[in-house]
Amino acid sequence: MIETVETTPFRDQKPGTSGLRKKVPEFQKRGYVENFLQSIFDAQEGYEGKTLVVGGDGRFYNEDVIQTAIRMALANGFGRILIGQNGILSTPAASNVIRKYKAFGGIILSASHNPGGPNEDFGIKYNGANGGPASETVTGAIYERSLVIDRYKTMDIPQVDLSRIGRVDVAGGVVEIIDPVADYADLMETLFDFAAIRDLFASGFRMQFDAMSAVTGPYAEEIFVKRLGADPAAMMNTTPLPDFGGHHPDPNLVHAKELYAAMMAEDGPDFGAASDGDGDRNLIIGKGMYVTPSDSLAMLAANAHLAPGYAKGIAGIARSMPTSQAADRVAEARGLPCFETPTGWKFFGNLLDAGKVTICGEESAGTGSDHVREKDGLWAVLLWLNVLAVRRQSVAEIARDHWATFGRNYYARHDYEALDTATADDMVAALRERLPSLVGRTFGNRTIRAADDFAYHDQVDGSSSAKQGIRVFFDDGARIVYRLSGTGTTGATLRVYLERYEPNDGNLSMQTNDALADLVTAADEIAEISARTGRVSADVIT
Ligand code: G6P
Ligand code: ZN
Repeated sequence: MIETVETTPFRDQKPGTSGLRKKVPEFQKRGYVENFLQSIFDAQEGYEGKTLVVGGDGRFYNEDVIQTAIRMALANGFGRILIGQNGILSTPAASNVIRKYKAFGGIILSASHNPGGPNEDFGIKYNGANGGPASETVTGAIYERSLVIDRYKTMDIPQVDLSRIGRVDVAGGVVEIIDPVADYADLMETLFDFAAIRDLFASGFRMQFDAMSAVTGPYAEEIFVKRLGADPAAMMNTTPLPDFGGHHPDPNLVHAKELYAAMMAEDGPDFGAASDGDGDRNLIIGKGMYVTPSDSLAMLAANAHLAPGYAKGIAGIARSMPTSQAADRVAEARGLPCFETPTGWKFFGNLLDAGKVTICGEESAGTGSDHVREKDGLWAVLLWLNVLAVRRQSVAEIARDHWATFGRNYYARHDYEALDTATADDMVAALRERLPSLVGRTFGNRTIRAADDFAYHDQVDGSSSAKQGIRVFFDDGARIVYRLSGTGTTGATLRVYLERYEPNDGNLSMQTNDALADLVTAADEIAEISARTGRVSADVIT
């Protein structure tokens, strides 16, 4: 029954920031998916008879890869495969299912916020028993294995009907199709005061949510509409589509512009939110006010105790290095530990497992807590709703009150997309070389105080990660960070993160563009962006 198929390695199966991501035609190459899945299994030990969770964001090619994963996981000796109905599991829901059912691990099929379709992106990611993305050690082992792999195991079994909830006995094991939403919605009910949020909606509070034709649609319908009483008409794009309706399922002001426009309208809703392809990112917009992910992290950390799941207080906060330092101000004021990690949710896993932090966040629209080991879009929306239900203030009032307490970190990210890879690599390498000579240079009324290449030392497992982004610090507390994206599939994307602190008695109501204008000019000069790339401005500003 079990077949061993000979294969030869592909040289390009190195996982990036978040798993292996490529265009669909790459994954369709004969043996490509099989090689990578087998490399994942070969890099693990002790899974015989254990449970594997498999699910994805519903994008094009999802079901095909799930059928392959079922055959291969059973052939490799897993005892039970848990799959979301129709192959759907949001990334945070998959993390929860892995934890709740004590699975050995999980395979999550997604390219997150990247477009889907026959010529668009696909991705495969492995998560371990804690429900979180595999560590760098594990992804490194998977890659090493992929370079020498010479056979994979599979078996000849009929396609499993993914639409029918229930248990199917197949040769050698069991496949269980589960409701992708119920366990997750139940978990949310344990963390948040659903009764208070229901009262908020009953009092006329209006929320607009954009699922971006991606995975969170069914979750939003169940949680916001059915369990909390939100207006169903205010739920946009809640049917998951294999190509996300031809859009970028990336919840930012560029790709969720319809929602943004609604929120900026005179008679707009009180609260707007969106989530990405696989449901782990979030966008939060108050009436007339966008909340940056960095500010949202700080504001949620400062108010988390208002939700039952965090009433006892939080253990600490972690943020990725390029994320603004707004959260640090909250940690400092509250006497909490604050950790700075490299970009990528996987770096929070050890801190969460060790109980050192409760809330984590990234500038890339990810916020989450120790309830799962992934960032969680709807969790962030629900925590905001819980805070709004308790404080009965608008998002703008809460934000202004926050800045008046902790000061304001004006912040923006400028992305230069689809750059020629060699040009981008050269630009970063040259900047790295110039680092020592930057100190003492003056730009306008600011002088560079320090400049380095961020290296992280994990206190929990002792591992180190170098070259995680170039940081330039100014004498007034401002900061510029440069990093090449680790998730793109076309050329290189340079991300420039700009930040400037204004104390609580300073000017807290500037437009971000104005507040950061001179830093933008300095950032270009320092890295020679326009000189080297010919680009006069960023493609996307968030
Ligand atoms: C994924 C990860 C995030 C990370 C982001 C960075 O979304 O899940 O944890 O922040 O990638 O993306 P980038 O394109 O900046 O490497
Ligand atoms: Zn995502």
